[in-house]
Amino acid sequence: MLDDKAKSFRVGLIGCGRISDIYLKTLAEFHEIDVVACASLDLDESRAKATQYDIPKACLPDEIFSDPEIDCVLNLTVPSAHAQVSLHALDAGKHVYSEKPFVTDLADGQKILDLAACKGLLVGNAPDTFLGGRWQTVRSLLDDGVIGKPTGVFAHVGTHGTERHHPNPDFYYARGGGPLLDLGPYYLTAMVFCLGPIVRVAGLSRRTFDRRKIENGPRNGEWMPVEVDTHSLSLLEFESGAIGDMTMSFDVWDSETPRFEIYGEDGTICIPDPDPVHGANIFQGEVLYRTKQTARWTHQPRPSGRQDWQVATNRHGFNEDSRGLGLLDLARAVKEGRAPRASGMLAHHVFEVMNAIERAPREGAYQRVVSRCERPLPLPENFKRALKETSHAS
Ligand SMILES: NC(=O)c1ccc[n+]([C@@H]2O[C@H](COP(=O)([O-])OP(=O)(O)OC[C@H]3O[C@@H](n4cnc5c(N)ncnc54)[C@H](O)[C@@H]3O)[C@@H](O)[C@H]2O)c1
Repeated sequence: MLDDKAKSFRVGLIGCGRISDIYLKTLAEFHEIDVVACASLDLDESRAKATQYDIPKACLPDEIFSDPEIDCVLNLTVPSAHAQVSLHALDAGKHVYSEKPFVTDLADGQKILDLAACKGLLVGNAPDTFLGGRWQTVRSLLDDGVIGKPTGVFAHVGTHGTERHHPNPDFYYARGGGPLLDLGPYYLTAMVFCLGPIVRVAGLSRRTFDRRKIENGPRNGEWMPVEVDTHSLSLLEFESGAIGDMTMSFDVWDSETPRFEIYGEDGTICIPDPDPVHGANIFQGEVLYRTKQTARWTHQPRPSGRQDWQVATNRHGFNEDSRGLGLLDLARAVKEGRAPRASGMLAHHVFEVMNAIERAPREGAYQRVVSRCERPLPLPENFKRALKETSHAS
């Protein structure tokens, strides 16, 4: 049970755009966080969001920073503004939880961690999808030794970008955007959660189109410049000795490949179609596995159908889009005096990995990754029940 102090963890939202809806919906389910104010660059947009979600105050960002009643800033701005907003929030004495990517410049990431440490504040960061039922199930299979010692990982997502579904997709093609920084955090964070930190990478990338056309919403038909590479391949080496390969692309019209697989000495875990863009939200979905006892390599001729895979039981809940779960965990972390699971340290490590992958085609050879982070602890199986009990009690 949470005490009254933790129940009233007061959050000020900055960035009232598209992703804010799912956060506000998730947070509204659990009473231990109160979103007490919302702000963006556009006061009309903030007022509309405040009305829609019953938020007491709509204002400009400066009022969030200067409000002594606010404990934490929820930073849902565009990537190029993440560091500036997070630093401002910490400077004002507030915890901060931000959307991904953590930053767009590695030095800013270190500045955020240093400032938070100096002020005794917590930093949390999306993605928090690894706290969802699907990845928690993967982690329990690994921790139970079902596939033995992990040896490798493979992740592939091929999409044709965001211009067909996002009304203002410019930031996906500006500095701080691109498939690696946009989608990479989901996959790399899940990898670090499952396999631990990454020590070295290699990469290749290309930009297939120099400009792209918005194909939905009020700006339909408008062209945008593309400032970043939009097809990225990488090789990854983990501190544990496991190795991996990853493809993140905005240049692929279609693919049968989308999947995430983890290989172990005694089996394989397969997470089919983990694509966060086209609806298969990666908080949820099937986790399949085969072991040396059930592998198709034991059969001649080999059966290859999906029905031959075993489906893992999901024990954790959060089997729907639950963005905001990382912030709920941060609110508890403040009370319990521990680090949040979706931590700034984890996000900084993942950003350094992506930064190194981006550097590799220019600088050649393998790029070392110097930051390290602990594998986040799994979410307790009763976490959702405990949150619900708090909500009912208040
Ligand atoms: N849209 C999605 O499907 C999606 C999914 C997952 C993650 N994200 C991430 O969420 C973040 C926001 O994405 P979105 O789609 O909601 O963007 P959006 O363009 O719809 O909204 C961005 C919001 O940030 C505000 N903003 C921009 N710069 C600001 C600044 N300097 N100070 C204060 N406010 C500022 C804007 O006024 C707007 O309210 C991005 O980092 C994105 O990568 C988006």
